[in-house]
Amino acid sequence: MNVQQLLSQFQAKGLETCFHGRHINPQIYDGLNGRNWSLQDYVARGGYQALRTILGLNGEAAWTQDQVIACVKESGLRGRGGAGFPTGLKWSFMPRLFNGQKYLVCNSDEGEPGTCKDRDILEFNPHIVIEGMAIAAYAMGISVGYNYIHGEIFQTYERFEVALDEARAAGFLGDRIQGSEFSFQLHAAHGFGAYICGEETALLESLEGKKGQPRFKPPFPASFGVYGKPTTINNTETFAAVPWIIRNGGAAYLACGKPNNGGTKIFSVSGDVALPGNYEVPMGTPFSKLLELAGGVQGGALKAVIPGGSSAPVLPASIMMDITMDYDAIAKAGSMLGSGAVIVLNDTRCMVKSLQRLSAFYMHESCGQCTPCREGTGWLSRMVDRIETGHGKPSDMDLLDNVAENIMGRTICALGDAAAMPVRGMLKHFRHEFEHHITHKTCMVSSQAHASHHHD
Ligand SMILES: Cc1cc2nc3c(=O)[nH]c(=O)nc-3n(C[C@H](O)[C@H](O)[C@H](O)COP(=O)(O)O)c2cc1C
Ligand code: SF4
Repeated sequence: MNVQQLLSQFQAKGLETCFHGRHINPQIYDGLNGRNWSLQDYVARGGYQALRTILGLNGEAAWTQDQVIACVKESGLRGRGGAGFPTGLKWSFMPRLFNGQKYLVCNSDEGEPGTCKDRDILEFNPHIVIEGMAIAAYAMGISVGYNYIHGEIFQTYERFEVALDEARAAGFLGDRIQGSEFSFQLHAAHGFGAYICGEETALLESLEGKKGQPRFKPPFPASFGVYGKPTTINNTETFAAVPWIIRNGGAAYLACGKPNNGGTKIFSVSGDVALPGNYEVPMGTPFSKLLELAGGVQGGALKAVIPGGSSAPVLPASIMMDITMDYDAIAKAGSMLGSGAVIVLNDTRCMVKSLQRLSAFYMHESCGQCTPCREGTGWLSRMVDRIETGHGKPSDMDLLDNVAENIMGRTICALGDAAAMPVRGMLKHFRHEFEHHITHKTCMVSSQAHASHHHD
């Protein structure tokens, strides 16, 4: 069976996708079944009404740019790409009076291990992103946009191109949208499949046809973005949240989440759960509820969770079962909500082995521009590797921590931090497993699993 067949098999069952119906108050995945992605279906779900409203085409006055931005600010929407930056505030940074070309960019690079929510939005509800981007463009006075789509999901890119054609033909994109004064040209850009191209300035370089390596900041994209012009860049899910906010009001969006954490959030739940997939739930939903929706832990008891994509520090089960899924609660517990990829580990998982896998990824994905990241990710990976294979030295524990600490905050982009944080999280909560590997040259978890087997 090839990868495509395997994927279609999951999609046919509704597993590992978004159209399984086990969401709570969904806004982005609402009513999707895998087939109703076209313009006609989207319009039947109330699609493009938010855009028409702000353009003054639904019988009331057109909204001003300030009104749209104020509504998004009020909603408490925070960027879904990882950092959780308030979206309305970011939009207000765009120099709207700048006379030259300004750009809007959608970050659909989605490379963070464990994250697979944006591709489902693009494949099963592409028009919601187009409408969200058109509203954002209107609010910031932007006439050209790009959606940069990860290079390894070509099918999704092709689907988005079809949706763009539909929107252009129906007058929702292009010159004088729906007969109004507002024009917006939107294009899809095919990415190159590197994790680093998801970092916003590397993405902009890649979009310009250059090697995808992050730029020094400042200047930030709001003043120096694509082709050196003012640019606003947001994640796919961030744009997808916007039509609902305009239709229902900022206050309603805020109310459906928690203060400072508005709206719903899509979590890609993977690992040791019975029903892996994308789950859209209100911000502030208890982790225990999310786990229940995903069919509960499989193959053992819950040991730990990586709550926000591979760069988020791991948290032990005892902490996870007590917290809610929102930016503030997860940060308070010592990790981050990140991209919303929830990786569940049961008690047969060895943390040294898990970190070995993660560290190899970051070493591979470092773009090599800065020494602490280029060399440090290699050191981390090789050290964890030798601990895992029984060649670790007692001094490796402090050395690991020291290398991780010295990468953090000393690099051009946050990939360095992303490589260091999982190491520090693992050492904080599961130090004894690393020590056991070093002292006994064997894995604590597999010997425990072995012992309990004997007891059975
Ligand atoms: C190494 C690295 C990879 C990233 N990958 C992605 C990604 O795949 N998708 C994404 O939206 N943001 C990614 N980001 C975050 C972006 O730089 C940026 O913060 C985000 O696109 C802003 O959108 P938002 O405000 O809507 O979250 C990444 C950041 C880093 C440092
Ligand atoms: S931190 Fe790493 S990935 Fe980011 S610019 Fe530096 S070397 Fe490249």
